[in-house]
Amino acid sequence: MQLPYSESYKIKMVETIRKSTRGEREKWIRDARYNLFNLNSDQVFIDLLTDSGTGAMSDIQWSEMLLGDESYAGARSYYKMKSAIKDIFGFDYFLPTHQGRAAENVLFSTLVKEGDVVPGNSHFDTTKGHIELRKAIPIDCTIDEAFDTELIHPFKGNVNLDKLEEVLKSNRAENIPFIVITVTCNSSGGQPVSMKNLRDIYSLAQKYHIKVLFDAARFAENAYFIKKREEGYQDKTIGEIVAEMFGYADMMTMSCKKDAIVNIGGFIALRDEELFKRASVYNILFEGFITYGGMSGRDLSAVAQGLYEGTDFNYLETRIKQVEYLGGKLIDAGVPIQMPIGGHAVFVDAKRFLTKVPKEEFQAQTLAVELYIESGVRSVEIGTLLADRDPVSRENRFPDLEFLRLAIPRRVYTNNHMDVVAVALINVWERRNSITHGFKIISEAPILRHFTVELDRV
Ligand code: F0G
Repeated sequence: MQLPYSESYKIKMVETIRKSTRGEREKWIRDARYNLFNLNSDQVFIDLLTDSGTGAMSDIQWSEMLLGDESYAGARSYYKMKSAIKDIFGFDYFLPTHQGRAAENVLFSTLVKEGDVVPGNSHFDTTKGHIELRKAIPIDCTIDEAFDTELIHPFKGNVNLDKLEEVLKSNRAENIPFIVITVTCNSSGGQPVSMKNLRDIYSLAQKYHIKVLFDAARFAENAYFIKKREEGYQDKTIGEIVAEMFGYADMMTMSCKKDAIVNIGGFIALRDEELFKRASVYNILFEGFITYGGMSGRDLSAVAQGLYEGTDFNYLETRIKQVEYLGGKLIDAGVPIQMPIGGHAVFVDAKRFLTKVPKEEFQAQTLAVELYIESGVRSVEIGTLLADRDPVSRENRFPDLEFLRLAIPRRVYTNNHMDVVAVALINVWERRNSITHGFKIISEAPILRHFTVELDRV
């Protein structure tokens, strides 16, 4: 018999989590104004709000924390991270930042101005926010297949090259600061971009003299999918695939809280020295001196180690198989999810789940609240609340995809936890037709409203 698959690590330290009663959860979520971000973490049993900064560091990463050099300038930890970035991605220049959106803030302050357009594949919300804050316009060029959740396509993060070329053709080059490619693409369901697509985007960009930026939060998961799904890559190592991928980028921003498996950290990496110097000014202004940029020395060291661990094939297989395990249970029960299953999360199609709830009453948020009351599992809405209002008309934007995301933290939960999540969601699925109303907004922020929005039942 073939040996079954199992985790590529064992557990050295544990943290207690507690169950609660349905009555307690009903009160807590009402007190939280039906916003799961407002819950106290002790009110949560299994926390699938995000895979960002919630991973478990390894014993080696923890020892790197003790070796961290806290010098203000030129710390050893900075050089460790610089050398890992050069080794893994091939970039000569880098600026540390405290997380991914800080990297966007620094780089976009350098490059994006009012009236610009920024094409890409379903920009992440902070990326979109940083573009729109500067009165520039993000343009989504993702392939149409990504918006049909039932359709199986191996690379739903891909860009439609015709849509992209149309944007490049119809705007002046000086109004397109860069094309941003998110690998894997979070907003379309943790879906990967193929190597062929990355190569084609880069050659199109060169034809029009436009730079390509990778939003690389989950670059290693993207490389894993290329190895598994794209012809010609089965025998390549993750390291070789990553090196080729980043050969098709001029610069990158990264939230290290994902594939570098740390609790905080980010960076910008570049090839162009002149651009590095311009961005350094903003880095010093917003983040800190260019050799620490909002991170402590120990954090820089943990990132350097985490980048290597995050690109280890055995680790990636453990991780992605766990997400597949949860997704498989939901598929077997008939729960509608984005197919195929994504890298970091299972994305439940709330439009097809809660068909009786009007879209104006926030279907995915309604489902998130129901799942929490059912089980104490915290998930997150990736739908109408997150899409914010149109910056000009101030009308609600109804995105093509209305998702409930079950994001799996790295190296944190076991498959027994996944079983609890699956049963909880299947219980809600079985009583879905009795859920006919959702929520209305009581108060909201003008941008990135989903973090702080207050809701009440309709
Ligand atoms: N880009 C992508 C693709 C992301 O998913 C995120 C964060 C960021 C940039 C911003 O990074 O949080 O370090 O500032 N995503 C988290 C999530 C918040 O839950 O998906 P950050």
